[in-house]
Order: sequence, then C-alpha cells, then structure tokens
Amino acid sequence: MSEKKIIVVGIGPGNEKYITPAAVEKIHAAKFLVGGRRALETFAKPNQEIFPVTKEIDAAINFIREKISIAPVVVMVSGDPGYYSMLETLKKNFDAALIEVIPSISSLQLAFARLALSWHDATLLSFHGRRPNDEDLKFTPQKILGLLTDAEFNSATISKILISLGWAATSQINICARLSYPDEKIISTTLGDAAIAEPVKHCVLVVRSMDR
Ligand SMILES: C[S@@+](CC[C@H](N)C(=O)[O-])C[C@H]1O[C@@H](n2cnc3c(N)ncnc32)[C@H](O)[C@@H]1O
Repeated sequence: MSEKKIIVVGIGPGNEKYITPAAVEKIHAAKFLVGGRRALETFAKPNQEIFPVTKEIDAAINFIREKISIAPVVVMVSGDPGYYSMLETLKKNFDAALIEVIPSISSLQLAFARLALSWHDATLLSFHGRRPNDEDLKFTPQKILGLLTDAEFNSATISKILISLGWAATSQINICARLSYPDEKIISTTLGDAAIAEPVKHCVLVVRSMDR
C-alpha cells in the first residue's frame, strides 16, 4: 500500500465526547492540520501548522498540495467523512491512493440514536447546498427520511416541500439541532406545524410517515 499523504479525519457531530480515539491520535500526531475554524480551536496544538477551511476551498487545496511533500496533512471534517464532506473535493484534486479516511459518527447517526430509531431502511438525503430529487423525497408508505439541512433549506422550507410531494401535514418530524452540544435541542412536531414555525437551520430532520 502506498504511503497515505492526506488523512481525512471525521471529528463527529461536535462534542469531543463523540470523537473516536483513532481520530484523536491522527489529529495529535499531525504536523499540518486543516479544518474549520471551530475544529481548529478545539483540537490544534501550538506546535502544529494550521490552515482554516473557508468557502475558498482552493486555498486549502493549495496548502495541502504544498505541504504533502514535507509530511502528511490531516484534514478534519465534521461528522463522518463518507457523508457529504470535503472528501469528494480532495479526491478530485489528489490521487485517491494518497488518501486515508478515519470514519466517525455522522450527525444523522446521532439523530437516529437520540430517537431510538434504526436507520437501516431510512432514506438519507442532503439539502446542504443542494436539493435532492423529488422522486427520492416523495411520500411512499412506511418511508422514513433522514435529512441534512442548511440555512436556505431549513425545517420550515423542507416541511413545505415534503407536503407538496404528498406527505400528510400530520406526518411526524423531529428537528434535531446542535446534536451532542450542551444546548442540543430536539423538537418533535408535525410537518404542518413545522412549515409555519420559526425555521431551524443547520439541523438534522427525521420525518416519518404516520404508518411507522
Ligand atoms: C456539510 S454537512 C456535513 C455532514 C457530516 N459529514 C456528517 O456526517 O454529519 C453539514 C450539515 O450536517 C448537519 N450537522 C452537522 N453537525 C450537526 C450537529 N451537531 N447537529 C445537527 N446537525 C448537524 C447539519 O445539517 C449541517 O448543515
């Protein structure tokens, strides 16, 4: 196996209690550490050279390209790297053989755990900077959805979209915000009420048809 130069480390939903020992080991051993400002504030040590990831992703890619000739670069991403993270951008810019991935707990996993629900038959989709296909979102009996959100596609706008795609306004929705943090909040309501309530942004939504 070729030497891994870019180590993409999942840091879980946010609270340090939910990060794996394998991830912590990689982060602590890093000479070069890349991640969001919040992750860097939490994990970076003074002896590490850090680079904050912003919307200017190219700047982070250039930093990684420059540093991997010196030592491996650890890239911290929220949740699990395999579910809508910077991993895909890295694979477009670097040979996949250079990349090692350390998995972690996704915000979706924690949301389902909080609700004591299995997710093996859930339809998992992301509204984070995208809109999933109507075909995948539309109501079918027994369906359970797990959704990432953003500021535009929030608890209210998504509830309206789902109602327009055949979901009953009485369907149950769990709005899971700030998962793992001390101010974590889970609101259990209906799609009809969530559609007209104050929007909750950057949360996980779990939506269930009434027959589940
Ligand atoms: C770019 S996606 C990253 C997803 C991440 N890879 C994962 O596995 O959770 C960011 C979105 O994940 C969700 N998210 C991440 N952390 C969260 C948390 N602690 N509580 C609730 N939702 C969270 C929100 O929908 C947020 O807008």
